[in-house]
Amino acid sequence: MWRYRMSNNVCIDQYRQRRYTFLTVVGLAVLLGAFFVAYGASDGPTTPAPATLKLLHIIFRHGDRTPVYSYANDPYRDHQWEGGKGALTNKGKAEIYELGQIMRIRYGNFLNEAYDPEEIYMESSYAPRCQMSAQMFLAAMYPPKGRQIWNLNLLWQPIPANPVPRDLDNKMAMKAKCKAYDEEKLKIDREMHANLTKDEKEMLAYLTEKTGENISTLAQAEPLFYTLQIENDNGLNLPKWTDKIFPAQLAMLAGSYLASFTKNDKLKRLQAGPMMKEWIDHIGEIPKNPKRKAYFYSGHDVTIVAVTRALGYELPEVPMYGSTLMIEYHESPDAVGDGFIQLFFFKKTNDKKMYPLKLPWCEMHCPLKQFKQGLQKYLPNDWNAECQN
Ligand SMILES: *[C@@H]1O[C@H](CO)[C@@H](O)[C@H](O)[C@H]1NC(C)=O
Ligand SMILES: *[C@@H]1O[C@H](CO)[C@@H](O)[C@H](O)[C@H]1NC(C)=O
Repeated sequence: MWRYRMSNNVCIDQYRQRRYTFLTVVGLAVLLGAFFVAYGASDGPTTPAPATLKLLHIIFRHGDRTPVYSYANDPYRDHQWEGGKGALTNKGKAEIYELGQIMRIRYGNFLNEAYDPEEIYMESSYAPRCQMSAQMFLAAMYPPKGRQIWNLNLLWQPIPANPVPRDLDNKMAMKAKCKAYDEEKLKIDREMHANLTKDEKEMLAYLTEKTGENISTLAQAEPLFYTLQIENDNGLNLPKWTDKIFPAQLAMLAGSYLASFTKNDKLKRLQAGPMMKEWIDHIGEIPKNPKRKAYFYSGHDVTIVAVTRALGYELPEVPMYGSTLMIEYHESPDAVGDGFIQLFFFKKTNDKKMYPLKLPWCEMHCPLKQFKQGLQKYLPNDWNAECQN
């Protein structure tokens, strides 16, 4: 079953147990139903992709990074982080390199060993950590062989990562302007704030007191979670007061914050729609673009959360660094244009397990027609027009 490994699993599980007792029967059915079914079986990453594979999309979160935020009472405020704020760490580089190696094994019989710009296309969020993660992924996927070797001492070759400027990015960092989205998001944020439970409000007050920062919203709690997580992952001893809330309770707040971006159908359509539309458009383009086999996207936690939520899953916590969603389109030669979608989720490279995802509203091998129908309500015809920019 789905379980993010953080430094204190027991704590998370206990917390979740407590949460579950408060969930309604419906809530339980949605959470457990979706996750037990979705994450029931698992394939080793060395299982080669079946011969029916026609088109592949791979979306991953960048690797481990340094903090972007520090709080007033942070004992590590002046810690010197290699690469500065929000930088991909060496561990993060290794993680995404390993991810690329794993994907090379899985798709070795599908993708050419040699880099071919007509066959694959990489796109990256503009954040340096995403561009660098894209480079690590490609370095592992396409070490030059034979005639592509240009330097025997450096088995690496340049491959464009195509970073998308922030103001044009409506798929990965999702920072492109969208007035209609911003208005709806403001409304939802107010609602979610008004809906905070007594426990959550007490926790925010506790955080405000202990950090010396104004932490009164989910948006203010999320960067704190990541900073504590990174400090902890890097062997820095967290202050005693964090025992009460870290990691489980604070992870829940951070998870709620990440979910807030796609809280309702309108937000899902404007935030996850452009990415999902692209998958479907790419499948439609197979006849006129037969050499293209795969699209890779180097994105963020919000990228993974947005599309998984729009697909119908509730992530209980934040996605790990390097977590990956694979969207495979399969087709048999006697049913051209009438294939099926198979999704996989890859939690973490050191876990080395690929989880087949069954859509809550479709079969494990979801017929393309049903896949399109199921997502129809989230696919904008003209995103800019709908944004009322
Ligand atoms: C807030 O709570 C109300 C009443 O339970 C519910 O109808 C609404 O959907 C909640 N809003 C959000 C954004 O969670
Ligand atoms: C704390 O932040 C919230 C949300 O941004 C704001 O409404 C509130 O006025 C702030 N409180 C203080 C004491 O600065």
